[in-house]
Amino acid sequence: MSAGRDRLRGARVVVTAGGTREPIDPVRYLGNRSSGKMGNALACAAAECGARVTLVTTAAAPEDHRINVVHVETADAMLAVLRMHISGAEVLLMAAAVADYRPEQVAAGKLKKRNEPWELRLVPTVDVLHTLRDLPERNGVFVVGFAAETDEMVSSAQRKLHDKGMDLIAVNDVSRGDIGMGADHNELTVLDAAGLVEVIRRAPKAEVAARLLEIVASRLP
Ligand code: CTP
Repeated sequence: MSAGRDRLRGARVVVTAGGTREPIDPVRYLGNRSSGKMGNALACAAAECGARVTLVTTAAAPEDHRINVVHVETADAMLAVLRMHISGAEVLLMAAAVADYRPEQVAAGKLKKRNEPWELRLVPTVDVLHTLRDLPERNGVFVVGFAAETDEMVSSAQRKLHDKGMDLIAVNDVSRGDIGMGADHNELTVLDAAGLVEVIRRAPKAEVAARLLEIVASRLP
């Protein structure tokens, strides 16, 4: 293990993974294509470094006794769990694809099919990172955000980094089918407030995760 990654031994690392599911009724939800694979790879890589890992996920988690798994469904639930686990953590890796909208109303019973168009009114979900940014319990946590982009990758990602108070942002070009959501490989463009840090070239997600953690470890105080 490199000296950099050794910095993570014993550190508390919180990882989020998967796409949130925003309920419509007891059997239907709005979701997205995130598989949770990148977040799982990050959780495993952090555990490999000897970190104490909590994985907050909507997806199937790795079977690894070193990882404390908390299952959630919605953006609201993810925020509530993070608020409990963020205090005292050294790193937050926010790989989850949080839905941007949720149904305004959740029906208590299963909605019946009707032979007419159906309008579903959506309202914005809570922005988890933006909300955490201003909370005292987040002080001192090194935050890595992830961005799925198709256009103007760098400028859009840097705006997110700034607005959401991240230390690093790892950007996926989701217009490519061979990397990113659902795929077994990924390629990440890693940026900080000053600009490009590194392009982690296309590789299996486990390798990409290990390299990203080296970068994170090298930046911890
Ligand atoms: N994120 C979040 N809460 C949300 C939406 C996103 O905390 N409601 C986090 C994601 O987990 C990710 C980062 O913000 O780490 C950037 O997510 P992304 O979906 O790229 O950004 P959005 O702000 O949703 O912008 P857009 O979808 O318009 O590109």
